[in-house]
Amino acid sequence: MTPILNTPAWKHAERHAHGLRDVHLRDLFAHDPTRFARLSVRWNPGAGESWLLDLSKQRITPETLPILAGLWETANVPGWIARMRAGEPINHTENRAVLHVALRNIGHAAEPIIVAGHDVMPDVHAVLDKMRGFCDAIHSGKWRGATGEPITDIVNIGIGGSDLGPRMATQALAAHHLGHLRVHYVANVDGADLATILQGLAPQRTLFIIASKTFTTQETMQNARSARDWLTTMLGEAAVARHFVAVSTALDKVAAFGIDTANAFAFWDWVGGRFSLWSAIGLPLALAIGFGNFEALLAGARTMDEHFFTAPPLENLPALLALIELWNADFISLQTRAVLPYSQSLGLLPRYLQQMEMESLGKQIDRDGKLVGCPTLPILWGEPGTNGQHAFYQLLHQGGRALSCEFIACKEADFPLPGHHEKLLANCFAQSAALMQGKTEAEARAELETADASTWLAPYKIFPGNQPSTTLLLPRLDPHTLGALIALYEHKVFTLGVLWHLDAFDQWGVEYGKQIANALLPMLEGTAPVSNIDSSTAGLITACRP
Ligand code: F6P
Repeated sequence: MTPILNTPAWKHAERHAHGLRDVHLRDLFAHDPTRFARLSVRWNPGAGESWLLDLSKQRITPETLPILAGLWETANVPGWIARMRAGEPINHTENRAVLHVALRNIGHAAEPIIVAGHDVMPDVHAVLDKMRGFCDAIHSGKWRGATGEPITDIVNIGIGGSDLGPRMATQALAAHHLGHLRVHYVANVDGADLATILQGLAPQRTLFIIASKTFTTQETMQNARSARDWLTTMLGEAAVARHFVAVSTALDKVAAFGIDTANAFAFWDWVGGRFSLWSAIGLPLALAIGFGNFEALLAGARTMDEHFFTAPPLENLPALLALIELWNADFISLQTRAVLPYSQSLGLLPRYLQQMEMESLGKQIDRDGKLVGCPTLPILWGEPGTNGQHAFYQLLHQGGRALSCEFIACKEADFPLPGHHEKLLANCFAQSAALMQGKTEAEARAELETADASTWLAPYKIFPGNQPSTTLLLPRLDPHTLGALIALYEHKVFTLGVLWHLDAFDQWGVEYGKQIANALLPMLEGTAPVSNIDSSTAGLITACRP
């Protein structure tokens, strides 16, 4: 296949970027009063008010997006979408289909989805029905602990994709919690994580969900064993059946751990860990918000799926986010992107997107085993506003490093305390304006003179500006909107994978560290000599050995 870098569409975008090299965003706004109207897109998911994606503060002109859309056609994104939906093994290094979209392919218009000749939809519905039944049993108090008490606390033990999605969404939908059930998350193998959660819990009212696609992940299995010890020490071995359930693709391993597979929720190898929130991995979330709300989350994602599958690239939200990321990474050389939700409830979104985007696209070898040849995903990081403003925004404004920011805000507050939401939005919009326009020396001097202050301070009050950003304005944060928001990023990742000709669905990069950790463990435990390792690592191990 011709590398995308050698195509006329790429060369066109390069020439266009060259022409914009010395342009300042402030001037682009000054010269075109219609800029916002021309570079913002609205999307109506059909459930109320529309979303607004404002790209006008990106370093682009109205010509840029049509030029970039040429890459969508050149890379044949629609063809890859069709291959994904047909259940082809587009995760080629693992020879797996990629079908998280099947998990929300529900409702009257749901079509069969075939993987290796088998319609997976009946399996999907069977697990959803089992989840619904389990949620009802817990919520109604029908499911009780070994001593007959109802369950009040759920502890999800999992890591990566078996943790971040439900954890993020549980926090995001705090305003929609049923209220009588507390849901906790444990991920880190550092015993402090589990121990501090257990401190406040009563075993007779606690239910553990062991969530692991493979049921082999070191951190999860260690936490699961420690949780079982904690429970059985107080309630005895027989209590495990009433206090442990599992979510996994490996039901044989679930049984080997001692969890009855009748209390296990299956998913399938065509669901990638970081795309698994929609599967039974979402069980702790469904328990927190109720199964009806979980279904609304799935429906929201499905709405975004339909939009992605059908809208032309210039009206297609995931396509636009992907094209802007490509532009920033490869045509104007930005190396990082800050995700800045002005929503406390979306506080974990940056962390969630780190896995979804960086584990998917933090790669350089393409589907043909060759170097992609251009930078791929910029480093993603972030914090909710306004907190970040009092931490790292100084560098964004005056640190001299170019990066892209992504602001996410909701028109309506999910916790409408009087006087708060307008201040939140004012700060959000102020930051993108300040980053865009900057402040010139003349403006800084004029301000100081007006305030009768010393003008020697002027250099400290100059803001270079020209710092690009996207703002995504959502109507509100509810299960439907959150489902669509997460699916938006999933499809953005898919699109970038196609554009860079990467397999966005494997994660070989996380294996090497695990391999070395397994070799070091017996050295730390004192059951193997400290050998065959560099002197620094050997020195560190020796310093910790008893
Ligand atoms: O971090 C690597 C990874 O394989 C992720 O992709 C996955 O989400 C996580 O580990 C947890 O894996 P599992 O669900 O199999 O425990």
